[in-house]
Amino acid sequence: MSESSYYRDHWLTVEPERLAAYEELFRWRPQQEPLLAPAQLAPGQRVADYGCGPGHLAVELARRVGPGGHVHALDLNAEFVRRTRARAEAEGVADRLTVHPITSDGIPPLPALDRIVCKNVMEYVPDAAATLAEFRRVLPPGGLAHVIDSDWGLLAVEPLGEARTAELLAAARHAYRTPQIGRQLHRLFRRAGFRDVQVQVLASPDLKGYMAPVVWNLVGYARASGKLAPALLDAIVADVKRAIEAEEYLLLLPQFLVTGTA
Ligand SMILES: C[S@@+](CC[C@H](N)C(=O)[O-])C[C@H]1O[C@@H](n2cnc3c(N)ncnc32)[C@H](O)[C@@H]1O
Repeated sequence: MSESSYYRDHWLTVEPERLAAYEELFRWRPQQEPLLAPAQLAPGQRVADYGCGPGHLAVELARRVGPGGHVHALDLNAEFVRRTRARAEAEGVADRLTVHPITSDGIPPLPALDRIVCKNVMEYVPDAAATLAEFRRVLPPGGLAHVIDSDWGLLAVEPLGEARTAELLAAARHAYRTPQIGRQLHRLFRRAGFRDVQVQVLASPDLKGYMAPVVWNLVGYARASGKLAPALLDAIVADVKRAIEAEEYLLLLPQFLVTGTA
């Protein structure tokens, strides 16, 4: 994969270990409820889930809109599209969840939407301003866009400390188009023409290791870049595993929640 398009290419083909990591990382957990609260979801709504990944969130959205609503889940990865369809079938919501494979960064023609939800995707799109303009274009007046995203400049991982975390992020930089998207979202929402833009930041530390796949992914991206010695990356993995065992681990990756009304 070329370094200049890696941020997109690494989503077109996702290797089995990362697929397994995402199944775990993106499993919907009740404690994530505050992430969705600003979207003001309700039965009967028509909701797009832009960049749906393996489909855990799309299924959760389908439960919330109920049998009278509909979810349109979009993704550019064929395996995620397949998994989201299979998950909707298995969870009994396939009648109200349509999965759309996409190849470009636009939104294909869809029935009128009430909401667009986009979680941990905006950091990867080629042009976040253009994607938000697209959300603004397809939402009718009064429709709401709700974007949830990280800001990698605020990542804390113990026991790695400041220097090793910074080194790891620098070596994995090519995997993100806009790694500090979190802090930029409110400005981009306003520029895209959204009104009543609201921003919240949620920061819950993971002390158990369920977010450790974030580190394994960073290590994988750094390995692919060849920018850090393999022994140093192996030591990072070993130290994080040891810290989880010893209950000395902490991972904090603040999530920016930004909503705007069309
Ligand atoms: C970190 S995953 C998040 C998945 C899901 N939203 C969730 O939180 O469970 C990022 C997702 O964005 C998708 N993606 C990456 N670039 C994209 C783009 N330009 N347009 C749409 N989806 C994209 C990937 O295929 C992947 O499914």
